[in-house]
Amino acid sequence: MYNKYIGRTAKHDIFTKHGILIISANGILNHNHISILQKHQIPLGEMDVIPLSNEKLISRAATEIFDIFTRIKAGEQIPVQDIENEVLPSVSAVTENPDLQQILAGLQSKDDYTYRHNIGVAVFSNMIGKWTNLSERDLSELTVAATLHDIGKIHIPIEILNKPGRFNDEEFQQMKQHALLGYQILQNAKELSDRAKLVALQHHERFDGSGYPYGITGDQMEHFSKIVAVADIFHALSTNRVYRQSMPFYKIIDIMQEEAFGKLDNSITMLFIRRIMEMAVGSQVRLTDGRTGKVVMINNMAVAHPLIELADGYLDLSKNKDVRIESLVNKGLT
Ligand SMILES: [Fe+2]
Repeated sequence: MYNKYIGRTAKHDIFTKHGILIISANGILNHNHISILQKHQIPLGEMDVIPLSNEKLISRAATEIFDIFTRIKAGEQIPVQDIENEVLPSVSAVTENPDLQQILAGLQSKDDYTYRHNIGVAVFSNMIGKWTNLSERDLSELTVAATLHDIGKIHIPIEILNKPGRFNDEEFQQMKQHALLGYQILQNAKELSDRAKLVALQHHERFDGSGYPYGITGDQMEHFSKIVAVADIFHALSTNRVYRQSMPFYKIIDIMQEEAFGKLDNSITMLFIRRIMEMAVGSQVRLTDGRTGKVVMINNMAVAHPLIELADGYLDLSKNKDVRIESLVNKGLT
């Protein structure tokens, strides 16, 4: 019952009845803390934790993963336990109480795109895992695998990673190496399962065999790799990069819908799009005709074209398909 506090920050030191410190002020509550609190029947409530926005949780997780990747680059073993204790709690706190506009804002490229990208992919993979009722153990395994999916990029030159403009052939070949490099880096991690390691190798493979590094088809891909591929594409499309601004919201959804036929796992992608649209209910949006309004209802027959409440009435986008959702805006701003 305390699971909702995972990822939240302790407001003050918390002790057992015998005075043993469980967590100090400003520490992040993880699974272990929660089970100790429950075992010792220590009461925990909203007044004991500091509320953190999705945006802040994402920033904190990105800082942690930056630190972990730096240690891996320096030759340290993959610190799976640290990822579970320091990164996963923030990720699951975001998906426990998700706010789509804040998530997308938090994941926008700052100067640390690669790290935020790993967190973004972990957040969306964790959501898919929850929506498809993965067990607690599988969910944690999937999320750790997602945070490490691009670990191979630590060996790709920074000039290529941050290149403004499109890659030439040679650069693209070099960039593609990150999948195999990542898989090799993960080989020695004893705490990681094979399917978790395969996420690094397979997340750019596509159902029709058009992906890389091996061009395998959907039936040869691990389930976790299929989930991470969907999360990876969605996050890549929804953030601005050095070479382009982020796309209009409707275009991201359209591309995902197209990729669902032939490139990505169809049922995972369609579920993802529907759930993302449902998360947008209640959000303020800017429309392509310049008006702003609030998403009030998703039409199951046309999920990308919901019902919008405007200042002077309602607009059913499923009947006005030339008007689309341009972007989500901050709550309270119109
Ligand atoms: Fe990648």
